[in-house]
Amino acid sequence: MIVCLCNALTEAQLGEAIAQGARRPREVYAACDCKAECGGCTRTIVTMIREVPPVAAIAATGAR
Ligand code: FES
Repeated sequence: MIVCLCNALTEAQLGEAIAQGARRPREVYAACDCKAECGGCTRTIVTMIREVPPVAAIAATGAR
């Protein structure tokens, strides 16, 4: 499913960027080699970031 219409980014692409450690929408866009255009998808991306289990988020950042 496409989440970001401006950049044709799918939920899977965004999820991969988040799994790789992106923790802010800006980082997610950068991981997908683009940047926000209209910003209409930002809320969805923030929700996806917040849904990442804390353990996965800690592992991605390397924090303890
Ligand atoms: S829908 Fe993602 S920037 Fe417009």
